[in-house]
Amino acid sequence: MKLNTIIYEKRDAFAYITFNRPKVLNAINREMLDDLARITDDLRRDEGIRAIIVTGAGKAFIAGADIAAMRDFTAAEGREFNLYVQQQINNLENLPVPVICAINGYALGGGLELALACDIRIIAQDAKIGLPEVALGIFPGGGGTQRLPRLINNGYAKYYIYTGEHIPAQRAYELGIVQEVTGSGDLTGRAQEIADKIAKQGPIAVRMAKRVINEGANLGLRPSIVFDSEAYATTFATEDRITGMTAFLNKTKANFQNR
Ligand code: HXC
Repeated sequence: MKLNTIIYEKRDAFAYITFNRPKVLNAINREMLDDLARITDDLRRDEGIRAIIVTGAGKAFIAGADIAAMRDFTAAEGREFNLYVQQQINNLENLPVPVICAINGYALGGGLELALACDIRIIAQDAKIGLPEVALGIFPGGGGTQRLPRLINNGYAKYYIYTGEHIPAQRAYELGIVQEVTGSGDLTGRAQEIADKIAKQGPIAVRMAKRVINEGANLGLRPSIVFDSEAYATTFATEDRITGMTAFLNKTKANFQNR
């Protein structure tokens, strides 16, 4: 697959997505969204992948949508671009396996909005995140106004969206936006450790868990619990369920067959 703005690799059971426009701190343009669309299309079909790691090349994760490109958009083009950003972020969120976001530097605007759609976020201690769009006369249109208040206290979400203030890594951890702060040199190693741990679990069970968590979040409590029990029943019908339970009882490691 020939891509110009993202490095896309697969090794063993893992896929690695590295945003790669370092001269503009990996700012998101249409070409990057086209590239991401092709990657998510490929990943949706790949049954062998067990976890995905997303990061940025150079000193930033993603410093937001490309302001130079957006400045000259007509209102209609701005709307169309916004829908395209949302669509690609939704595609990333809906991938069947866990996506670990390793925030190596600035994750601002659309960059943080993309990170918020990942399953697990870890951050380098010197990185900063934020939603500074109001300084540009727009607001976080890539889903940040919806995902951030669902993730953290509403008042803090509003504080950071209205002021545009950058959030240092440690503060992002205290707020619950990220799950871990790592040393700068340890970020990718730690992301891989998390991916390895996920890959040792029952693959169908992990995929189903992700599905019920994500889809349940869009339903009320009762229907989400019904949906949950239906999905649970399908995992109970798998060979992997027998494999996992037998391995526990035999005090051995499960060798899951993904069926
Ligand atoms: C285009 C960008 C960019 C961006 C950085 N650059 N962010 N270009 N779009 N979002 C470019 C700079 O212009 C500069 O180019 C180069 O990258 C290096 O950036 P510097 O500003 O020189 O680096 P530094 O001083 O370290 O400051 C880093 C920074 C700052 C704090 C991240 O670049 C910054 O504030 N960037 C904008 C962040 C932002 O507002 N993001 C939200 C975008 S709107 P040159 O040519 O000078 O070297 C958005 C909307 C999403 O995301 C939803 C819409 C659909």
